[in-house]
Amino acid sequence: MPNIISTKQFKKSEVEKLLALSALMEKACLLESKKGGKKNKIKACLEDKIIACIFFEPSTRTRLSFETAALKLGAKVISAENAGISSSAYKGETIEDTTRMLCSYADAVVMRHPRAGTAEAAAKVATKPIINAGDGANQHPSQGLLDLYTIKKKHKRLDNLTITFVGDLLNSRTLHSLVPLLNMYKNNKFNFISPKELKLDSAFTNDLKNKKIKFVESENLDEVLGSTDALYMTRVQKERFARAKDYEKVKDSFILKVQHLKKMKKDAIIMHPLPRVNEIEIGVDADPRAAYFRQAENGLWVRMALLCYALGI
Ligand code: CP
Repeated sequence: MPNIISTKQFKKSEVEKLLALSALMEKACLLESKKGGKKNKIKACLEDKIIACIFFEPSTRTRLSFETAALKLGAKVISAENAGISSSAYKGETIEDTTRMLCSYADAVVMRHPRAGTAEAAAKVATKPIINAGDGANQHPSQGLLDLYTIKKKHKRLDNLTITFVGDLLNSRTLHSLVPLLNMYKNNKFNFISPKELKLDSAFTNDLKNKKIKFVESENLDEVLGSTDALYMTRVQKERFARAKDYEKVKDSFILKVQHLKKMKKDAIIMHPLPRVNEIEIGVDADPRAAYFRQAENGLWVRMALLCYALGI
């Protein structure tokens, strides 16, 4: 059963197919809106299917774009937000039992949970595909794929790129999902810019070393801006800190400001998985290289493709 738990599960050929299918979805939806919403073939793809979205952590983009994707494909949606207090998890029901129930109602389950490994645990008992919409700091595969789609759309290639990640790298499930995808392509290099408290876990960097992937870890953003093709800002994840004072100490470590833009390549792309708190000055939004809202919109096409993939359509 095609669960979508981690970007590490995909072969390169599957990733390429998903990117191509996402492009098809984008084209079909744009065509549909030009025709004034006239029914097209896309709407028949998931007719009669029901998609369950259960989110134990807050979300704007992932939940609503998965739900929109399902509706655009003709499916129906059942949804539980704030599931930690609004579902029977509040009464002590295990994720396994919750999953069994959702699988008896729906054809696929999109799940977000604060604990790493929850989607995998759910998939072990599921009778329908589970789509991981983020499990703690571990993985966010649909985000990784939409990020890859965004980079490809801009640079027309996925190799020979320098990608700079900035901010809370330790807790960034989006980084954990995107880097393995970029490593499927040749000669990509990484800059990992963070305060020392939020550096990548050594297991992650050791894996990169073993695979002979080129990367630099540093606290100096300015010195890498000029060589960066994709600048990926991340939010310092307040919800992952045990003590408020530890968060306060690092929360504003890196802020991309308008004054940084002149140091960047003309064809660079500025990304952020969103939500943004204080990592990118509002003035940056007007720069054509600021891609974060386009990036989020791309999530719709990619999630349409992923729903079709999970349901074998
Ligand atoms: N990027 C992302 O996962 O956004 P949401 O938390 O709003 O879903």
